[in-house]
Amino acid sequence: MTIAFPSTSLQSQATLPSGAPRPRLTFIGTGYLGSTYAICFAELGYEVLGVDVDVDKIASLNAGEVPIHEPGLDDLLRKNIAAGRLRFTTDYREAAEFGDVHFICVGTPQRADGMAADLRYVEEAVVGIASKLNRKALIVGKSTVPVGTAEWVEQLVAKHADPNLGVEVAWSPEFLREGYAVEDVIRPDRVVFGVKSDWARDLLYASHKGSFDLATTEDREVPVVITDFATAELVKVAANAFLATKISFINAMAEVCDAAGADVTQLARAIGYDDRIGKKFLRAGVGFGGGCLPKDIRAFQARAQELGVGEALRFLHEVDLINQRRRQKVVELAAELLARPYGPAGPDLAGLRIAVFGASFKPNSDDVRDSPALSVVRRLVRTGADVIVYDPAGMANAKRELPDVRFADSMTAAAEGAHLLCVLTEWEEFRNADPVALAATVSTAKVIDGRNCLDSSVWARAGWEYRGMGRASSEKPATAE
Ligand SMILES: NC(=O)c1ccc[n+]([C@@H]2O[C@H](COP(=O)([O-])OP(=O)(O)OC[C@H]3O[C@@H](n4cnc5c(N)ncnc54)[C@H](O)[C@@H]3O)[C@@H](O)[C@H]2O)c1
Repeated sequence: MTIAFPSTSLQSQATLPSGAPRPRLTFIGTGYLGSTYAICFAELGYEVLGVDVDVDKIASLNAGEVPIHEPGLDDLLRKNIAAGRLRFTTDYREAAEFGDVHFICVGTPQRADGMAADLRYVEEAVVGIASKLNRKALIVGKSTVPVGTAEWVEQLVAKHADPNLGVEVAWSPEFLREGYAVEDVIRPDRVVFGVKSDWARDLLYASHKGSFDLATTEDREVPVVITDFATAELVKVAANAFLATKISFINAMAEVCDAAGADVTQLARAIGYDDRIGKKFLRAGVGFGGGCLPKDIRAFQARAQELGVGEALRFLHEVDLINQRRRQKVVELAAELLARPYGPAGPDLAGLRIAVFGASFKPNSDDVRDSPALSVVRRLVRTGADVIVYDPAGMANAKRELPDVRFADSMTAAAEGAHLLCVLTEWEEFRNADPVALAATVSTAKVIDGRNCLDSSVWARAGWEYRGMGRASSEKPATAE
């Protein structure tokens, strides 16, 4: 069932176990997802408690410091702490006493021993809250999980919560995009409620009423898709599988364009005019990364295997392989531009300095989990090159991942004396960089545009030998150096 809110079809107001006028919400796991949610739902007017096992993270949040880089979040955190609507704790007992609805927002990383999702944090969080409850509550999964997890969570709750309380479970997957997370949470393009009872549905409705009311004042509608558990879980992984496929599709086209002497950016523009294809997510480059798409498409394949339908998702293996090949492609292009042979063990780039612009997996984020930029840096370091990295927000996290790599404090400092510049994350700062000034800083003006985000003709006019991804036609600079 899909309902567009505001709607008159759901009028019943769920009775709140806490007796508060609006549902009190906890967000368990205050990482990229949970901290954004806790802060934005306080902004929407709810009383909110964020919960995490990470003592430092909780101390930082309570002190008004967001531990991640997400535009707009800092101000909202301080504003809502000051308004008395928002607190953070490590104490599950406090969370159980406070909340009507407990959203599970913990990580579900790839297991070390295979492609499946590691559900240990979900288990700890669910047991942590269920065992402390002393009145009825709704436990809502938001983490991205394999289909079937919500049923398992229900069993965990039945085992660990007092059966007389009637604690219920629901699943409401999350679609926020890092870098745009505040807007995505406050103004969602849709919400999905996987529920088994009217009570759970109505309580979820009441818990999102703040964003539905905002939509009304802005003359918008928020579609709400009400489903069973399995569909709600699958919606999320299906969406990510589709997005990953779209990116790998255009990157596969980039491979062909490179071989055929064509330009994938023009190809993408031309096919994107077709409404059935659309323009978005058709930018060829070094591919996708981050804490979601790579591990989600792998966990989806692993779960499909368990369900006996592995063949249905075999294409996702290819999607993953295409994506991985993009990273090595940068090394191949580097060898080509630097006129070093590419042997079976890769090129020898010893004695050459390479400046890398970008560490986070996408702009406007400090998230370096499975970042294509860092994967390329690792590969470049293995060639013997002297690699130096700059990123506007991701350097602290990148330094933890790559303690032996050198980092610079600015684009100019990174570029100084470089024989090659690689742009691997499409930050606005890089897109707007002055190629004339940078050309005066480097040793040789050669650039690999790993995100096809630079204006190749402007860079070529400034004397750069420019290489994009899947853009064989842009090989030659407009003006020779
Ligand atoms: N990051 C995104 O953009 C995004 C978007 C949609 C969905 N998701 C999904 O949301 C989930 C969380 O992702 P994330 O990026 O926020 O991860 P994250 O690693 O940034 O945050 C997870 C948090 O959970 C905490 N945690 C672990 N065990 C806990 C426990 N027992 N009790 C309380 N807290 C605990 C960790 O300390 C950490 O702060 C994942 O399933 C992810 O796939 C993420």
